[in-house]
Amino acid sequence: MKNKLLTIFKNSSSISCIIVLLLPNLSFAQNHERGTLPPPRKLTEQQAKVAAANYKKYCVLCHGEDREGHANDHAPSLRSKSLMESGVAHQILRPMSYGRKGTAMAGYLDEVGGPMTLDETWDLTYWLFEMSGVERLKFSTKPVQGNVKHGEEVYQQHCSSCHGEKGQGISAPALANQSALAHNTDEFIRHAIENGRQDTPMKAFKDLLPSDSINDITAFLRSKALGWKEERTILKALPTPEQYVINKNGQDPNFTLQDGMYVSSEHLHQALKDKKRMVLLDTRVPSVWQTAHIEGSIPFPYYADLDETVAGIPKDVQIIAYCSCPRAAADYTIKKLRKRGYTRTAVLWEGVFGWMNLGYPVMRGDIEGISN
Ligand code: HEC
Ligand code: HEC
Repeated sequence: MKNKLLTIFKNSSSISCIIVLLLPNLSFAQNHERGTLPPPRKLTEQQAKVAAANYKKYCVLCHGEDREGHANDHAPSLRSKSLMESGVAHQILRPMSYGRKGTAMAGYLDEVGGPMTLDETWDLTYWLFEMSGVERLKFSTKPVQGNVKHGEEVYQQHCSSCHGEKGQGISAPALANQSALAHNTDEFIRHAIENGRQDTPMKAFKDLLPSDSINDITAFLRSKALGWKEERTILKALPTPEQYVINKNGQDPNFTLQDGMYVSSEHLHQALKDKKRMVLLDTRVPSVWQTAHIEGSIPFPYYADLDETVAGIPKDVQIIAYCSCPRAAADYTIKKLRKRGYTRTAVLWEGVFGWMNLGYPVMRGDIEGISN
């Protein structure tokens, strides 16, 4: 069809202009309808300033100084063209607000125990978009149809080395994560596979796989969605300084630290059983402390102002920090504390997910399902 058009109009320069304009539209109509959307609300100078400061305070640790991603924990780029043109607003806003359960990405919205207001999460979403300088594309919200069985075969062959055999994420996002599948539309996922994520290890598969196979993988990933229930954590009161030290009258533990920094879950668990005197710092966003934490730990987010948070922590006590990253936020916090003269400090090697996978206990938050 395309060839025919081209031969017919070969000698007419004015019409070939029209063809150039028409061809992309033809191919859009064939598979996946899309157009462009008007730009979102423009931030005021003040809103942009606050958003930039929030980015620096909360996101740089993993997503990088310049939004390039992969500074820690394989956190994705927040400036790739394909993400920013397809993800604004909700595929950016929702992970930022509610996090992705079971990954290092925590929820930053105050409603779930995070540090940002609803307005701030919206403004940061739009700020990321403005900084990326791309145009917003409009996608169909219809499901992508494909052959799930064939999709799984192609997935195992081309994708599982980075995304994991079960889509659990290894060096790349957890594609079968229930909160991700609930928030990401099929066309958003398909667009990522087709176009990759610029300047990251995620290649564009549109030149490597037939379009049908990309549909099949998308359908396979969708088939992994088990139904996601929005949950609301009933926020617990935060511990007060008198509660910071665990086993106040116990003896100090005597850890041998790997690389001068790390203690294993096994040794920490033993020290807790032996009622040793310690302070446990949960360096994640407090929203995830609310959901589950090691008993006795205090929320001590990596971005907190140390002047405020160290008050109440004696200088001579053994401090152990952990996060789910599994170490980035805890390392960062302990390095700051060491600079301040806290010498008995360590980081939990496996992080809190490793701790749980080894079967050690955590305190769960009170969670209620929201049925709509
Ligand atoms: C070499 C490792 C690697 C391989 C192989 C790979 N990916 Fe990725 N993928 C990544 C990384 C890393 C990211 C995150 C990129 C970023 O934005 O920084 C990613 C991102 C994605 C995303 C976007 C996720 C989101 O929430 O934004 C999708 C969808 C995806 N990959 C699907 C696939 C599929 C399907 C395949 C196989 C056809 C595949 N990937 C193969 C590394 C890989
Ligand atoms: C402790 C590390 C860490 C911090 C800090 C962090 N993130 Fe993330 N973020 C991640 C990881 C890891 C993922 C990918 C999770 C997955 O799906 O496997 C992610 C995913 C995301 C995504 C989804 C991107 C996509 O391609 O689908 C967005 C949006 C995001 N983060 C925004 C933010 C913002 C905004 C902040 C600061 C307010 C922030 N993150 C702070 C680790 C972090």
